[in-house]
Amino acid sequence: MKILLIGSGGREHALAWKLKKDSAKEIVAAPGNAGIAQIARCETVNADDVDALVELSKREKPELVVIGPEAPLAAGLADRLNDEKIPVFGPSANAARIESSKVFAKELMEREGIPTAAFQVFDDFSEMRAFLRADGKGLPWVVKADGLAAGKGSIVCPDSFKAQFWGSEMLVQKRFGDAGKRVILEEMLEGREASILFLCDGEDFLALPIAQDYKRAEEGDKGKNTGGMGAFAPASHVTPDMLSDVENRIVAPTLAALRDDGDPFQGVLYVGLMLTADGPKVIEFNCRFGDPETQVILPVWPGNLPEALLACAEGRLKYIENPDPDSAAVCVVLAAKGYPEEYKKGIRLRFPKKRIDNTLTFHAGTRMSEDGIVSAGGRVLNALGLGENIAEARIKAYALAEELDVRGLRYREDIAAD
Ligand code: AMP
Ligand code: GLY
Repeated sequence: MKILLIGSGGREHALAWKLKKDSAKEIVAAPGNAGIAQIARCETVNADDVDALVELSKREKPELVVIGPEAPLAAGLADRLNDEKIPVFGPSANAARIESSKVFAKELMEREGIPTAAFQVFDDFSEMRAFLRADGKGLPWVVKADGLAAGKGSIVCPDSFKAQFWGSEMLVQKRFGDAGKRVILEEMLEGREASILFLCDGEDFLALPIAQDYKRAEEGDKGKNTGGMGAFAPASHVTPDMLSDVENRIVAPTLAALRDDGDPFQGVLYVGLMLTADGPKVIEFNCRFGDPETQVILPVWPGNLPEALLACAEGRLKYIENPDPDSAAVCVVLAAKGYPEEYKKGIRLRFPKKRIDNTLTFHAGTRMSEDGIVSAGGRVLNALGLGENIAEARIKAYALAEELDVRGLRYREDIAAD
């Protein structure tokens, strides 16, 4: 199968690796990165440039286009490719609102009785402040920008003062631009998190191995929210009973609601969960593979990825096998110092000469330069360890992270430690 893969992060490197491993004949990436370039032909078309991506798809005539990031999905790339009759894995812009508008997602969940944190929506700061002064005093809150904010638009606030500050940053100071024109004020949930990614063909769905992501920048889940500083899979704290509960009470009704509204969801439905004392509740939905969850899910999933993704695009997922994970993986993200705030790009990277067994290096923000491979983003490299269990995989991941570490990068020391 010839595949055109859109995106340039660690997630796309993992997708390219697994597609290739499962015998994809040819992979073209747009734009890709320095690691993806080692297994695919990279075309310098930006993942946000929908017109140029449609042109590239018409020129390349892939048997399947796989869209990695949310921005082109929200901008309607899948709709445009469907119009051109080019097979595509990824939801329409309307279905992608499940991620591109948190207000859309919360209202859908409220309407369908899907378990999630209680919430209020505000587009006016004085109303938000009045609500917090009257009802919200003393409570912790989570303040969320409605639109896309690269995983940085949710702020956990220990009290109502902090929630007011962030409400003002979003609604008045426009810190997140248009993405923060509407703000969700959400009850803080307690529990352990898990990410479950479901392949969906509009009708049927299947659960990939369950992962846990580490979103905060610092050890001990301190510091700012990031796109994700590490992950592991499979996550056994989600029991088979909990998974059934999630499928029956969350995934099936969400997909049915989208379908009934005329926007069947085809692609990956990413369900971010808090496992609370009252059962699993949705923290967020994404309309795409998670990053860095994908980096740990795909290496432990023995299924055939090109076949499964094409089956989603063609509405025949029910014929696809879903074998249980056959190993464990831990991913440690090496990020530029300062990420997710100010950080340097162009850091020269160094790769171990000798391969460490049971490890993989996925590139996230990297590019080729005259000086060799340099950093080109906040999250730079992914050190992936594999093993029979999480403890083994963790040792491997950290052995590789140590080798890849250079001045200017940093990583969390406690990924998969608990
Ligand atoms: P989101 O952007 O909605 O995925 O949120 C990013 C992170 O913020 C989540 O992974 C959680 O760690 C935290 N978070 C978001 N919403 C809540 C909530 N209602 N209660 C507790 N933590 C939350
Ligand atoms: N790791 C979280 C995300 O992909 O949104």
